[in-house]
Amino acid sequence: MTYESGSLAPSEVRRLFDRIAPVYDAMNRVMTVGLDRSWRRLAVEAVVQPGDRVLDACCGTGDLAIAAEREGGHVTGLDFSPAMLERARRKSTTIEWVEGDMLALPFEDASFDAATVGFGVRNVVDLEHGLAELARILVPGGRVGILEITTPTGLLAPFYRLWFDRIVPLLGKVLKGGEAYSYLPASVRRFPGPDELAGLMGSAGFADISYRTFAGGIVALHVGTAV
Ligand SMILES: C[S@@+](CC[C@H](N)C(=O)[O-])C[C@H]1O[C@@H](n2cnc3c(N)ncnc32)[C@H](O)[C@@H]1O
Repeated sequence: MTYESGSLAPSEVRRLFDRIAPVYDAMNRVMTVGLDRSWRRLAVEAVVQPGDRVLDACCGTGDLAIAAEREGGHVTGLDFSPAMLERARRKSTTIEWVEGDMLALPFEDASFDAATVGFGVRNVVDLEHGLAELARILVPGGRVGILEITTPTGLLAPFYRLWFDRIVPLLGKVLKGGEAYSYLPASVRRFPGPDELAGLMGSAGFADISYRTFAGGIVALHVGTAV
């Protein structure tokens, strides 16, 4: 099974996030009505143990990396957007912030105990390769936690479509740099559902895969163990 994030080339995705960086945190809070903080906490609680070496890939402005550090991890945050990383650096001087590509992680095999990705895998151009990179840098038995927007099928589905297809792009228009948010609905629609993502994680070298959803199925947290 192949999955590609769609029409944007990696350099375009990077430029998009460079443009979004100034409004990213504000948009996150508004779009999730502040719930993203508790999802991040649940994600790190699921995979990080005190003393773990943790990689937060696609760390953006750093909030999930910071949550992982609060959980007791020694954290490295990696992202390929200099503008997103610049914001992350302002938030923590104890986390190591690395500019790099999740598709070619600049780390040795088996060099982390846990890895997290928050709202990042959706944007990675070759998802299967990105997942395999995460498996590679984890020690056998290392844990991965992937937090991602997903598409609900139940009662919330029409509200979800209204929110992501109409309101989020509109919000993007009124915020400086936010026009790039018109990309969000398309990236969510293209992304595999939770069962499919679990299957891709299995093919990439993870076992004991499970997921739970939050906010009526709008967000999914997948966890797995590197074999
Ligand atoms: C929606 S943001 C998520 C930021 C953060 N993890 C959070 O939880 O808010 C997605 C991030 O993924 C990064 N990204 C996308 N593809 C990447 C890749 N191949 N390598 C590194 N970073 C990537 C983007 O630059 C962006 O900062």
